[in-house]
Amino acid sequence: MASNVSRRTNKKSNSIKKGDATSNQPKTKKKSHPGKAKYLVICLALIAVAVCFIYFYRSSESKPLMKSDSPKQKGKRSSKSTTSTDKTRSPTKDDAKEIPPELKDFNASIQKEFKITPIKIEGQTLKFQELKSNLSSSVRAYVIENFLSDFECDNLMRVHKKYLEIFSKNDPILCFDSLPTLKKNLKELKLKYKVSNKDFIVGTTCLNESFSSQLKPHFKWSYSTAFYPGENKFSTAYAERIQDATGLKQQNGGKFQITSYPIGVGYKSHTDCIVYEKGKGELRDRYATVLVYLQDVEEGGETEFPLLGIKVKPKKGLALVWNSMDQDGNCEPLSLHDAKKVKKGHKYIIQRWYYYKSFLTLGKRPPEPSLPKRKREQPRVSCDEYEQGSCRWYDEWNYDHIKEYAANVRNMA
Ligand SMILES: *[C@@H]1O[C@H](CO)[C@@H](O)[C@H](O)[C@H]1NC(C)=O
Ligand SMILES: *[C@@H]1O[C@H](CO)[C@@H](O)[C@H](O)[C@H]1NC(C)=O
Ligand SMILES: *[C@@H]1O[C@H](CO)[C@@H](O)[C@H](O)[C@H]1NC(C)=O
Repeated sequence: MASNVSRRTNKKSNSIKKGDATSNQPKTKKKSHPGKAKYLVICLALIAVAVCFIYFYRSSESKPLMKSDSPKQKGKRSSKSTTSTDKTRSPTKDDAKEIPPELKDFNASIQKEFKITPIKIEGQTLKFQELKSNLSSSVRAYVIENFLSDFECDNLMRVHKKYLEIFSKNDPILCFDSLPTLKKNLKELKLKYKVSNKDFIVGTTCLNESFSSQLKPHFKWSYSTAFYPGENKFSTAYAERIQDATGLKQQNGGKFQITSYPIGVGYKSHTDCIVYEKGKGELRDRYATVLVYLQDVEEGGETEFPLLGIKVKPKKGLALVWNSMDQDGNCEPLSLHDAKKVKKGHKYIIQRWYYYKSFLTLGKRPPEPSLPKRKREQPRVSCDEYEQGSCRWYDEWNYDHIKEYAANVRNMA
């Protein structure tokens, strides 16, 4: 599954650019007014200019946005989103066309291979093992024992739970990658709502707060909280440890994401990168993944690569490292994997994705979209193309739920 491109059905069409409509209209109107309305005309003209200004300002602001990454995934997990954008720049009003120096001088770093090197932590050399596949592919998978200490695991779980608690004050807003996905989810849950595009908050594919709250009891999801390089001391030490142990370069890494899976929740089969036709791939996609289990899981919760015949049982502190792209930057379909449902216990992991080709905004906390309107500390749940385990709760907002996102991504490259 996660294979081909899938994702986002959005049609770029239907939203008429708001700016166009508003800005033209007032102009034509006024001309014909007699002198008395002069002030009115001037006022209208000023408003029109202001509207134009705001429109251009905002569009320059939102285009170059990036995604985060999220693992987030979209459709079939496309991390594409995550990768996409590199050029985020902060919109200065006189933006004109000067290229900011950090953009002009940006040198992308390429990550086309990795190699496990035994490192020592507190005098102990960490043991690692390659996981053998019954099939030949460009994917190499390893486990490294005690990659995080019990203390580190416990602290990461504690921080994660703290954020869940803060965000639990508000019900999440539910977002879907498309209307058909919403329909499929409702059907599967035997919920008899008749839904149409009108049920989405304008400009997004999210449901409003009250509808989201109504649906909440019927859905299950995993929970993800994220932090970015440099936001705490651990992030720096951890990125260095990964680099020493695997050769995965810090500057090719994205955010750090902690995810928890309650009983009954897993995550469907997907690849961490988007599979394209050979040679047509997006190099700013996820080359490799470093996943560490933060505690044991009594039953279930394994990470399985069904096509490679590899299955890893969660064990506290154990790192699972694999590449999803080959040396030429093609996403390897055989890297397909899934998180088995937790049957007993509670699964916690921390993951970081490493990109084949780095980009300017990689590893930087992306700006948040203005839509939908939401409270502070209101979480988001994103569900993509329906399949078991396709909904994920996030403390972080990105652009996956904005209807024209895909069109924007195309313009951004
Ligand atoms: C990028 O590479 C060029 C050529 O090697 C170098 O002159 C420049 O300083 C580098 N820029 C950055 C931001 O490292
Ligand atoms: C929220 O969405 C539902 C379903 O579209 C709609 O019936 C309801 O009126 C909306 N509520 C608000 C407050 O907009
Ligand atoms: C590899 O092993 C898995 C699990 O044992 C199996 O489902 C798959 O068909 C195998 N693939 C090949 C090519 O033997």
